[in-house]
Amino acid sequence: MFRFLTSGESHGPGLTIIVEGIPAGVPLTEGYIAEQLARRQRGYGRGGRMKIETDFAEIRGGVRHGETLGSPVGMAIQNKDFANWQGAMDVGPVGPEVDQKENTRVVPGHADFPGALKYMAHDMRNVLERASARETAARVAAGAVARAFLDELGIKIHSRVVSVGSITAPDTPSSEIDWDVVEECDVRTDHPETAEAFRAAIDAAKADRTTIGGVFQVVAEGVPVGLGSHIQWDRKLDGMLAQAMMSINAVKGVEIGHGFTNTRRPGREVHDVVVPAPDDPRRFRQTSNEAGGIEGGMSNGNPIVVHVAIKPIATMTEPLPSVDINTGEVIEAPYHRSDICQVPPACVIGEAMMAQVLALTLLEKFGGDHISETRRNLDGYVASHQEFGQPASVPGGDDRSV
Ligand SMILES: Cc1cc2nc3c(=O)[nH]c(=O)nc-3n(C[C@H](O)[C@H](O)[C@H](O)COP(=O)(O)O)c2cc1C
Repeated sequence: MFRFLTSGESHGPGLTIIVEGIPAGVPLTEGYIAEQLARRQRGYGRGGRMKIETDFAEIRGGVRHGETLGSPVGMAIQNKDFANWQGAMDVGPVGPEVDQKENTRVVPGHADFPGALKYMAHDMRNVLERASARETAARVAAGAVARAFLDELGIKIHSRVVSVGSITAPDTPSSEIDWDVVEECDVRTDHPETAEAFRAAIDAAKADRTTIGGVFQVVAEGVPVGLGSHIQWDRKLDGMLAQAMMSINAVKGVEIGHGFTNTRRPGREVHDVVVPAPDDPRRFRQTSNEAGGIEGGMSNGNPIVVHVAIKPIATMTEPLPSVDINTGEVIEAPYHRSDICQVPPACVIGEAMMAQVLALTLLEKFGGDHISETRRNLDGYVASHQEFGQPASVPGGDDRSV
């Protein structure tokens, strides 16, 4: 089974990642993983931490001569900021003379309050260090391993910012987005006026001493029909993707395709009509992609499109009223160096989570100890659709763009 685990605190010595289940023979280098890590670190509205860290995942196992071995891929990312936190974040016991950078003041909207009561943490640093989105660097490294596997099967993942606060990008179909332009843009949109408006909204939030959230889109292209399943709740691809996206820090909503907007439209407008298409590898195609590439918990061969809502960051230069968890004293929430807007980097984390779920479901369906075996199984399955349906002719009809 494909899976990954991460370990590490935000200001501790570093992050450790183990990815298990990737077949042998997948090209993988530290440089490839570093590219993905660098994408997470970019973005307008990020805080001071990104100036300190240049993330690099050292591969500690599972790769030889630039190819995976089929054994677990182990990686380590050093926290450069640990140099400033020695003593406070030492693994061994420390004496009372050491400044432990104790945190007893709750940040509303963070993990502090429930975490303090659940883990009996009188110093909430024990909770917030792991709740911090620093952990998402580990996910992006794990996602890069999954992505290297997807590359071998011709599957591509993209992402863009759809909205920042109340500013929304034009509703362009994912097939018409210029992903190269998105990649170069610090607010991840291919629409220049929208980019200006996004930056202005982030600047305004900063000037107002608050933070700003938004919505991002993750798209996977080249996904074969039939990943996931309708037969059991925990095998549904949409359910797995929703869980994966929802697990990203500060994410509060997930939409597959046009799930939310379609609640305001009549049924006849929101379903994807199937027509014969001898040129399509499926021998059929759909005239639209309202479902975001998933029906009945299974991929249908259209691009998978997921929208993810991420809340404004909880740590603000003008803090909310709060309490001291040990004394009950009413105080202000603390301010630690923080981002103003995390929507652009969250896109890259969303891509990593999409890659994990696709790798898992592809390996479930096609298996393979070596990538050539996986590819052969996939190719054979796709070819079998050529015999499956024998559409006689292509009728006219609704031709909404996919
Ligand atoms: C890329 C990224 C960066 C983040 N940066 C910060 C930050 O600088 N300060 C902060 O308070 N929260 C930040 N967060 C959000 C917190 O990690 C998150 O709100 C917290 O763990 C509580 O979890 P919840 O919001 O999912 O309930 C960030 C989230 C992401 C995805």
